[in-house]
Amino acid sequence: MSSPCFISGLGLHLPRTTMTNADLERIVDTSDEWIVTRTGIKARHFAQDDEPCSVLAYNAACKALENAGLAPQDLTHIFVGTCSGDYNLPTTACLLQDMLGLKGLPAFDLAAACSGFLYGLETARAFTSLYPDARILVVGSEVVTARVNFEDRTTCVLFGDGAGAAVVTGSGNPGRIKVVDAMLKADGSVGGLLTIHGGGSACKPRLGQTIGPEYFVQMNGRDVFKHAVRCMAEISGTILERNGLTAGDIDLIIPHQANIRIIEAIAKKLDVDMEKVFVNVDRIGNTSAASIPIALTEAVSTGRIQPGMKVLLSAFGGGFTWASALLQF
Ligand code: ACO
Repeated sequence: MSSPCFISGLGLHLPRTTMTNADLERIVDTSDEWIVTRTGIKARHFAQDDEPCSVLAYNAACKALENAGLAPQDLTHIFVGTCSGDYNLPTTACLLQDMLGLKGLPAFDLAAACSGFLYGLETARAFTSLYPDARILVVGSEVVTARVNFEDRTTCVLFGDGAGAAVVTGSGNPGRIKVVDAMLKADGSVGGLLTIHGGGSACKPRLGQTIGPEYFVQMNGRDVFKHAVRCMAEISGTILERNGLTAGDIDLIIPHQANIRIIEAIAKKLDVDMEKVFVNVDRIGNTSAASIPIALTEAVSTGRIQPGMKVLLSAFGGGFTWASALLQF
């Protein structure tokens, strides 16, 4: 039996520049009609050079702290889910710690692609079991567009940038949202379907080398689509069953915002009406690890989630990784 774990505050931050499909039509051979039909995406935010991953994370973190009624000094740990950090080193979590004016507390990045926030949440749940007084900042922050090839129209229209953050607390500091359960999964055998190889130790950068497409997101979209639907539907069913619930008991499902057709297919598999599924992919696009905390923060701040509701989160990303969490408001 795990000890109680809570979310005490939430925040999000989006870069100031919005890119519509019409804007993309000027960069790449695509059309609003193709993008909307295939993905449901109408606009997304692109970070500028003065808005790296750490800056987006910092802005979301400040809002989550304010929402929790806490100061940075109250934090005990910082976890950042990202696959598009400022640098290989230092980590974005360490950059964020410094920006928050903190020293000493443990800070590290989690590399689980689009599942990064839920991997961070489950890690925080384990830490709050060990340290019931912990107040853990869990962030999903991404500038995926830094690793998108704008000559590859099959991928460059899908992604956007942003950050979402949560302050996770243990039984020593109960919060208003209970993390009832969480579950993580991975399957490296199919990882080659979605990659950013360039710059790694198996795909070394060389001085003076021209950067090739391997330095950017490369994806077999159709296969990723099938895996994403199957894995998110399966893990959602498993976490519900393990908690004695059915999809009918859930008030709102917040799936990873990758593509409206993936979201609709998951709803169909779970036999849930789209009325009970949160969607912001049309305005935000796929922000990888930031997708779930941005959507969760929006759902709370717009009143879509009310006290007493049960909310199911599910994510899927490169690796492959996938994850789910059950929240009681
Ligand atoms: N604009 C116009 N035409 C395009 C574009 C574009 N942006 N991209 C591809 N096309 C063309 C292709 O060239 C192809 O043309 P052809 O038939 O003449 O060769 C045609 O459209 C169909 O291409 P497909 O790749 O077969 O299109 P599909 O219907 O599979 O849709 C998509 C592609 C949207 C990527 C889909 O496979 C998908 O949604 N996959 C999921 C991927 C995803 O969301 N990944 C995110 C990362 S993982 C995650 O977050 C879950």
